[in-house]
Amino acid sequence: MSTARIDTDSLTLSLASDPRDDTVLDHRPAIVSGTMFGHYRVLEPLADGGMGMVFLGEDTRLGRKVALKFLHQRFLGDASAVPRFFAEALAAARISHPGTVSVFDYGSLDTGSYLVMEYLAGESLGARIEREGRLPIARVVAIGIELAHTLAAAHEAGVIHRDLKPSNIHLVPDPAGSGHEFVKVLDFGIAKLLASKGPPLTQQGDMLGTPFYMAPEQTFDPSTVDHRCDIYSLGCVLYQLVTGNVPFRGSLIEILMAHQRLKPMPPSSFDAAIPPALDALILRMMAKSREGRPGSMAEVVSELSSIQESGHRAEGKLAGAQPLSLRQGMAVVGFLVGLGLVEVGLRYLASLL
Ligand SMILES: Nc1ncnc2c1ncn2[C@@H]1O[C@H](COP(=O)(O)OP(=O)(O)O)[C@@H](O)[C@H]1O
Ligand SMILES: [Mg+2]
Repeated sequence: MSTARIDTDSLTLSLASDPRDDTVLDHRPAIVSGTMFGHYRVLEPLADGGMGMVFLGEDTRLGRKVALKFLHQRFLGDASAVPRFFAEALAAARISHPGTVSVFDYGSLDTGSYLVMEYLAGESLGARIEREGRLPIARVVAIGIELAHTLAAAHEAGVIHRDLKPSNIHLVPDPAGSGHEFVKVLDFGIAKLLASKGPPLTQQGDMLGTPFYMAPEQTFDPSTVDHRCDIYSLGCVLYQLVTGNVPFRGSLIEILMAHQRLKPMPPSSFDAAIPPALDALILRMMAKSREGRPGSMAEVVSELSSIQESGHRAEGKLAGAQPLSLRQGMAVVGFLVGLGLVEVGLRYLASLL
C-alpha cells in the first residue's frame, strides 16, 4: 500500500489569518501593497489559500484590475512547488470555459513566483456558507448545474480538478446588476493534466486535496484517481450546501476513514423538504466505489436539470392553485383548532390576513 502524505495546508484554511489583517503582510515583507512584479502592481490582500496568497493588483500596461497569486514563501525550498503552481495556469488555459477563472500570465522574479488572473468580484462559496449557513434547495441545484457544466468541460479537456471545495468556488455578481451570480471554479493548482508530456507534478503516493471533500481513492489509492473523484467532491459540496454540514466530521484520520467506510446520513435526514431525487443523487455521487457514481459530469447535469424542472413544475402548480376564500380559510382554522392544533391554526390564520 502506498504511504499517504497528508496535505495539511488544505486543512488550515479555516484557521488562516484574516486577509485584511495587516500583520499578514508583515511576515511576507517581499509582497506589500505598492510592490511591482514586472508591470503588475500589488494593491491589497484578498485571501490566503493553501498554495498562495491572493492580492488585488493592477496591470499597469493595460490599466485594468487583476488578481495576483503568489506562491507561499514556505514553498521556497520545495523544488516541485513552482511547476505545480504554474500547472494551474496551464490547466486553466486548456479549459477556457466561462465557469473557470482566466489566467493571463505567470512568472518568477527574485522575490517569488506569481500567477496573474482575471479579478473576480464577489466572494468564495466558503465565505458565503460561513455567513449564511445552508442555501435554499433551488439555489443549490442551480449552483450544482453550473459547477457540473464547468467540470464536464474540464474533464473533456483532460483536466481533473482534484480539490473541489467551497473555498475553490467563487460567486460573482452579474455586473449588469440582474442579481444573478455566476459560479466560477478556481484553483486548478493540483489539477491532474491527463496525457501531459511534462514531468509528473505529484509524486506517486502523494495525497493532495481536502479531507472533507476528498474521494476515498484519493487517499487510499491515488494512482487510480480519475474524473470521478471530482464527482465525489461535488457530491460532498452539494451535501454541505443543502444540509449546512460536511458529510463527515472528526480528526483528520477519522474523516479519511469515514470517506472510505461510513455511509453519510442522507441529506433528507436534516431537512425533509429535500426532494428524494436530489437526496439519492448526492448519495450516489458520494458512492465509495467509482463505479457506483454517475459516470460523467454530463450525467450529473442531466439529473440535476430534471430535479430543477420538477421543482419549477411544483412551483407552477402551487402558484396556479386557486387561493382559498377567507370563509374557506376560516373553516380550515376552525378545523385545526377543533383538533387541538391551536398554534398551527393561529399561524395559518396569520398567513391568511
Ligand atoms: N481571481 C480571483 N479573484 C478574486 N479572488 C480570488 C481569485 N482567485 C482566488 N481568489 C480568492 O483567494 C482564495 C484562494 O485562492 P486559490 O486559488 O484557491 O488559492 P490556493 O491555491 O492558495 O488555495 C479563494 O478562496 C478566493 O477567495
Ligand atoms: Mg484554494
